[in-house]
Amino acid sequence: MRSFASVMALVAGPILALAFLSAPAVSASTPDSISMSDGKALFLENKCTSCHSVTAKGVEGAKPDKAIDISKVTDSEDFLTKYLKKEVTKDVDGKASKHKKSWKGSDEDLAAIIGWLKS
Ligand code: HEC
Repeated sequence: MRSFASVMALVAGPILALAFLSAPAVSASTPDSISMSDGKALFLENKCTSCHSVTAKGVEGAKPDKAIDISKVTDSEDFLTKYLKKEVTKDVDGKASKHKKSWKGSDEDLAAIIGWLKS
């Protein structure tokens, strides 16, 4: 008569092999890197580069000599979301200013851009 252990080995063997085989191959990109590259693509797509450079991330604006480099954004994601939708002002040189361009895209896309800027 088979011992309990050898029956278990017979049953568990194929299950373990299956689990191993069905485990997804190491994915090429993690969720993080997907949203970060999306943020960059969206930044370019939405023509943010017509005014801004993000030199820290290797993005040159259309007019590197004139453009505002936003390599270091220190405001919170919440503030930036509202600021880019022109819902709030930001003090620039002692003056309350709204952002030059009002965001018209989706909240998800805006969050991806801000996440990328702050990463
Ligand atoms: C028409 C020109 C223009 C365009 C296009 C533009 N911006 Fe701006 N942006 C500005 C100006 C001007 C400021 C204020 C800069 C300052 O603080 O002196 C600013 C400020 C910002 C700031 C705040 C920087 C800080 O720390 O004060 C962020 C973030 C920003 N822009 C992101 C974006 C994103 C994202 C896009 C694309 C969706 C975009 N901008 C498109 C002109 C532009």
